[in-house]
Amino acid sequence: MIEAAGPNADQIRYWNEVAGPKWVVLHDIISAQIRPLGLLAMDHAGLAAGERVLDIGCGIGETTREIGRRVGPGGSAVGVDISAPMLDSAREAARAAGAANVTFVNADAQTAALPGPFDVLYSRFGVMFFAEPQAAFTNLRSALRKGGRLAFVCWRSLQENPWLLVPATAAARHLPLPQPDPHAPGPFAFADAARVRDILSRAGFVRIHHEPIDRELSVAGGKSLDETVEFLLQMGPTASALREAQPEPELLDRVRAEVREAIAPHQGPEGVRMAGAVWIVTAAVD
Ligand SMILES: C[S@@+](CC[C@H](N)C(=O)[O-])C[C@H]1O[C@@H](n2cnc3c(N)ncnc32)[C@H](O)[C@@H]1O
Repeated sequence: MIEAAGPNADQIRYWNEVAGPKWVVLHDIISAQIRPLGLLAMDHAGLAAGERVLDIGCGIGETTREIGRRVGPGGSAVGVDISAPMLDSAREAARAAGAANVTFVNADAQTAALPGPFDVLYSRFGVMFFAEPQAAFTNLRSALRKGGRLAFVCWRSLQENPWLLVPATAAARHLPLPQPDPHAPGPFAFADAARVRDILSRAGFVRIHHEPIDRELSVAGGKSLDETVEFLLQMGPTASALREAQPEPELLDRVRAEVREAIAPHQGPEGVRMAGAVWIVTAAVD
């Protein structure tokens, strides 16, 4: 594990001690939910055989393996992440899949010397956690070859993402919801397209394009209503509220029941499905 030091020390602690172990356990559910969005961003990257690609904040490496498959044996995929437990899982899955052109680096993508030059920088929800995003993207751009491309998917605002807003609003009837600075590192830090355009252009990227995608998501990969509630208590603003409030079991049960009632209307034969909203962001360097 890398030392929890430097500008992203809080995130290094969080993704090693709190969120990373949770993602490893829940990865089947999370993957079922976000896989289509990650693949869409990958399609926008237009990967070609033989290319070298960096997967930023690769987590458990599902996308890194898919990139490796798309660029073929003559190309390579490198996943970079600060979370040791997620990378352990990523390495094991890559070994099991025989993905010989896939490797992983445990490092802070904002500050580390990255093993470029890369043809493409890609990320599925892994670029919104930098304390200093402009410094991070300047560092990332320096690892990209001239003429290289960037493609990532990130969440739009909480208000545009009912799959997280509905449970958070239900929980807020019993618990104070944290009100973080909208630009602070976190899932919604890149919701503001004008801000992201500014960050990327100051970091030297050109032809910056934001495509809004609105999709119904399989919230918990077709699990039962009760399992979906448990999943939602561990994700996003509802999980943050619970972590801060540390409610007694009785209050926790009330939150659970409130969240269940709020999402029940969205349950169908394929489990709970609710609207989600993301940006697919693409850019290049000349
Ligand atoms: C929301 S998760 C997405 C994981 C993965 N891309 C996926 O879609 O399954 C965000 C990831 O970004 C990683 N991350 C956060 N800050 C980072 C940084 N400064 N450098 C590298 N990775 C970082 C986290 O450890 C985590 O794995």
